[in-house]
Amino acid sequence: MRLFAAVVPPEEALDEVERAVAPYVGQVTGLRWAGRPTWHITLAFYGEVPERALPDLEARLARAAHRHTVLDLALAGAGAFSSARRARVLWAGVAGDPMTRLADSARAAGRRAGAPQTDEKRFHAHLTLARARTDTDLRDLVESLAAFAGTPWRAERLHLFRSHTGPQVRYESLGDWALAPVKQG
Ligand code: 2AM
Repeated sequence: MRLFAAVVPPEEALDEVERAVAPYVGQVTGLRWAGRPTWHITLAFYGEVPERALPDLEARLARAAHRHTVLDLALAGAGAFSSARRARVLWAGVAGDPMTRLADSARAAGRRAGAPQTDEKRFHAHLTLARARTDTDLRDLVESLAAFAGTPWRAERLHLFRSHTGPQVRYESLGDWALAPVKQG
């Protein structure tokens, strides 16, 4: 099964993104917009994981969540992979905590649980908004979205999703675990 760990922004934060992108949806040829129910910030992509590794992965993610405190974040700005001029992925940016420590732990959980395809690319927190099959010049769009600045929110849970690919991509939640509360004082 194809699995990944992610953080899911609250509905109000997604409402703001939806309003920001609405004028552009359907306006760029070749750009396929990701449906709002699929919006998330990936922490670790595990690729195909054998079903027998799932209990161990879940246990490791539960422990990882417990070791990391909640993250103060905001969705802000936009960018593209690999560049705005030759874009395959259009994304909304993430401000506040860089999320690198939690992403490192989520990746380590995958490796140790026996998910050998765990993605080791340099982590860059983002929320994918749209994809293109060929390199597409999205400089105007990225510039138009640059000023977007969403209301800050707190990421309180770490999620594990199963990705069902096909004509209609669907992400099934397999579990989620609370991050540790902020230490008082
Ligand atoms: P993306 O947001 O940049 O598209 C489910 O596929 C999630 O895992 C997506 O958010 C996707 O990132 C992320 N992911 C990371 N590496 C991936 C890969 N090699 N193939 C597919 N998805 C990947």
